Amino acid sequence: MTPHVEPDPQAGAAVKAADRAHVFHSWSAQGLIDPLAVAGAEGSYFWDYDGNRYLDFTSGLVYTNIGYQHPKVVAAIQEQAGKLATFAPAFAVDVRSEAARLIAERTPGDLDKIFFTNGGAEAVENAVRMARLHTGRTKVLSAYRSYHGATSTAINLTGDPRRWASDNGSAGVVRFWAPFLYRSPFYATTEAEESARALQHLEDTIAFEGPATIAAIILETVPGTAGIMTPPPGYLAGVREICDKYGIVFILDEVMAGFGRTGKWFAAEHFDVVPDLMTFAKGVNSGYVPLGGVAINAEIAATFDKRPYPGGLTYSGHPLACAAAVATINVMADEKVVENAAHIGENVLGPGLRELAERHPSVGEVRGTGVFWALDLVKNKETREPLVPYNAAGEANAPMAALGAAAKKNGLWPFINMNRTHAVPACNVSEAEVKEGLAALDAALSVADEHTA
Ligand SMILES: Cc1ncc(COP(=O)(O)O)c(C=O)c1O
Repeated sequence: MTPHVEPDPQAGAAVKAADRAHVFHSWSAQGLIDPLAVAGAEGSYFWDYDGNRYLDFTSGLVYTNIGYQHPKVVAAIQEQAGKLATFAPAFAVDVRSEAARLIAERTPGDLDKIFFTNGGAEAVENAVRMARLHTGRTKVLSAYRSYHGATSTAINLTGDPRRWASDNGSAGVVRFWAPFLYRSPFYATTEAEESARALQHLEDTIAFEGPATIAAIILETVPGTAGIMTPPPGYLAGVREICDKYGIVFILDEVMAGFGRTGKWFAAEHFDVVPDLMTFAKGVNSGYVPLGGVAINAEIAATFDKRPYPGGLTYSGHPLACAAAVATINVMADEKVVENAAHIGENVLGPGLRELAERHPSVGEVRGTGVFWALDLVKNKETREPLVPYNAAGEANAPMAALGAAAKKNGLWPFINMNRTHAVPACNVSEAEVKEGLAALDAALSVADEHTA
């Protein structure tokens, strides 16, 4: 894969200058960032105006599950734009109906009604609103190690430090510790212990908060940005039981884990659990046009059969986004993209990362499945002290910054969060691309190794 365009540093400089003058970027101190000007992308690669090409091990923000510029999805968007570029949400529109049908066909259990949003945070907002109206209760329980989005309710549900600046009393939100054996909050030494103690902790939290005040528990099926911690066997089934016992709505957030990322259409399938509500976005159409949504079970859907649902969006079920979803889901099925993600995880990426862990003193743990992997980097494998402190910035974060720079120098665009690098390529990544990425990671980890003790 080579860039289709000749390097054009002058054009790149103009793009960068207008960006710096007028674009206000997410999550950033505007004066301290230096965004790369991107000239193009295809499949698992993108390139800049200077002719540098990068293998994208981030899938954008973990959403380009079919890679960049898939010709069939691009054509479907073009065709839809020529036919009916937009239409209001109150009408039945062919691609909207078809997208909802294809999604409902794949969601577990009786999650058969789809409310479309423009992205993940809006999906979480609406799932919580549905749960509150359905139960008549207000509190929602979420995990400390979590990310659920940046709108007001979603950011309050979020556990990671992106919440802190917008944490206005966490209206109606109570956080708890979900299982994470490598850094166990429960001093557990086995998965069975971690699962049992985490469930006990959750039930104790519910008891002290008052079960009758709790509308919902929201969990990422496999927490993503927080560190890709696959829950131990029995945990999610246990949460399902607790929810049933107390009449609490169980929301699984599959915005990042859904649509093939873990090697199944939805991560919930690994655990044989069916939530009451499930949020999705990102991989539903690989983000070619913004789309998210809530999959709703029969009981909660029935709450709004005769009573209006008090929520909506001008662009709910936007035809361009839905056409992209229909094409993406069909491409994923026809090209066996989910099966590829599972194969890559099991036979190439997982073993390759474990092999790196054996040789690099900075890799404390490798965890994941499919194309959803984290390397937990440490100063010392025995003590498990993180390579950089939680939420480190500036000089304190220098080891991770150095790792990132080394990866880029070797042609790999890495996902870095705190003391972790995540390997989250497209679900249709090839074996050769993964091997290329592993070689670049190998070189970058040698830089991280210099900071171990
Ligand atoms: C699990 C999860 N939920 C919700 C969101 C928010 O999605 P969006 O950025 O589309 O609003 C994200 C984004 O990364 C996510 O990973």
